Amino acid sequence: MGSGQWLVEKRATFRSDSFSDNDNAPETGCLSIVVLGASGDLAKKKTFPALFNLYRQGFLTSNDVHIFGYARTKISDDQLRSRIRGYLTGSKEEEVSDFLQLIKYVSGTYDTEEGFQLLDKEISEHEFSKGSVEGSSRRLFYFALPPSVYPSVCRMIKRCCMNKSDLGGWTRIVVEKPFGKDLDSSEELSTQIGELFDESQIYRIDHYLGKELVQNLLVLRFANRFFLPLWNRDNIANVQIVFREDFGTEGRGGYFDEYGIVRDIIQNHLLQVLCLVAMEKPVSLKPEHIRDEKVKVLQSVLPINYDEVVLGQYDGYRDDPTVPDHSNTPTFATMVLHIHNERWEGVPFILKAGKALSSRKAEIRVQFKDVPGDIYKCQRQGRNEFVIRLQPSEAIYMKLTVKQPGLEMSTVQSELDLSYGQRYQNITIPEAYERLILDTIRGDQQHFVRRDELKAAWQIFTPLLHSIDNGELKPQIYKPGSRGPAEADELLAKAGYVQTHGYIWIPPTL
Ligand code: NDP
Ligand code: BG6
Repeated sequence: MGSGQWLVEKRATFRSDSFSDNDNAPETGCLSIVVLGASGDLAKKKTFPALFNLYRQGFLTSNDVHIFGYARTKISDDQLRSRIRGYLTGSKEEEVSDFLQLIKYVSGTYDTEEGFQLLDKEISEHEFSKGSVEGSSRRLFYFALPPSVYPSVCRMIKRCCMNKSDLGGWTRIVVEKPFGKDLDSSEELSTQIGELFDESQIYRIDHYLGKELVQNLLVLRFANRFFLPLWNRDNIANVQIVFREDFGTEGRGGYFDEYGIVRDIIQNHLLQVLCLVAMEKPVSLKPEHIRDEKVKVLQSVLPINYDEVVLGQYDGYRDDPTVPDHSNTPTFATMVLHIHNERWEGVPFILKAGKALSSRKAEIRVQFKDVPGDIYKCQRQGRNEFVIRLQPSEAIYMKLTVKQPGLEMSTVQSELDLSYGQRYQNITIPEAYERLILDTIRGDQQHFVRRDELKAAWQIFTPLLHSIDNGELKPQIYKPGSRGPAEADELLAKAGYVQTHGYIWIPPTL
């Protein structure tokens, strides 16, 4: 057994005891996974590779699983397979070929019944060939599609592809972000889909919730005594949640221009991370208990003050032929959120995301207040910081002041460092999509966004987004490969972040 498999299985054992909210769902039996939009970018880069990794590790087996690709493009099974093949890495050729044989392609439109009837026929044939009793099988539909077609696809699935009776089988749909463009459009989409599927059947994916260190957040916070008394406004000066990419919108300019960095990254990925950093301890690890606490955080966020927002657009963004010449879309944003509750009153949460910056990194940086009555002049060197590096080089480290080794009594900045690459050398960290698809199969919605969470998230950002859309707020141009607009660093300082000078954490090399 590979070490990556060990990691997932250990987690699965722990989870099945404590997390699953759907104890009736059969763990075995015939499973059909349908990737809608199979001809697209997400499907080939993320969805099929995630399925392959699950297959490789024995979570999907040819005994019971079949995978269907569905899209309008007219291609054969083999043509789809060869499109995907190049993205299935890290395995023997034979294993790749065996996996690809599990995939069948069905071509059809997203708003007429013919294609979905054909799809249903193919799925039923597979179920029949596995001896599955009608209604006892599992059908998972992954929407690797633009949200504009979600309602019609849901209608078609409901009409043509549902399990015929309830013998313990299920039908679940996984929908991608961005789910809507603002509060109204998201609510409209939710209502349309909600009329066709129960909330328990809808898995709104935010792949940041599948990242290893994001999944570690609640463990760190609630399984370690020494964080409990510190994690509040008395000790924490500010929190930063940062996403940086060192490449632009390459090849996705058309999509990106409609959404911008706030809808693409901040409203979902960074806000979800904020919830896990700020939420209260849930009653239990049941998905509903966790999501209840996340919603409370979102509902406590105060309206965004535009003086605490800096927007940027990188120079050259509009050169993309799919981007309008006068686009006002931000590719960078820094903003401060305030949570109005007992724990966090007065603590700025700084969310920062940008494309075409100097580096690629996602991290959470919790900065502590100065030591009161400081006798060592620590303030001159830097504050304590607790940093969770989500990627690359996953790590958790704590910046602290220690005595400089030697005869002199002087202090220096150092760190307690849990770098995953070094500490867990033989473990492969699973991809976010891999975990989340497995969660869907197991009926665990903990790491998926509930409808009321989504609504509360849009409530926070909709006024700001409308002000950007109508040109009231304009992004500043910044140089690709830079840190973004200088005003963003000024905003950070104004929010109380104190930069450490003369010390930098360097990820250890193996
Ligand atoms: P694509 O633009 O590649 O679209 C996927 C497939 O949908 C296409 O191959 C096409 O298939 C069909 N399609 C495209 N446009 C339309 C349209 N206007 N009407 C009907 N069908 C259409 O998208 P992605 O694969 O990049 O993304 C899919 C979903 O995943 C989106 O919601 C996206 O926001 C989300 N996402 C994507 C990420 C990525 O890295 N790509 C990352 C995170 C989320 P055909 O013409 O063959 O039917
Ligand atoms: C996607 C965004 O949701 O996340 C992309 O649409 C972004 O713009 C991507 O590049 C980043 O994901 P990751 O896992 O590489 O940080």
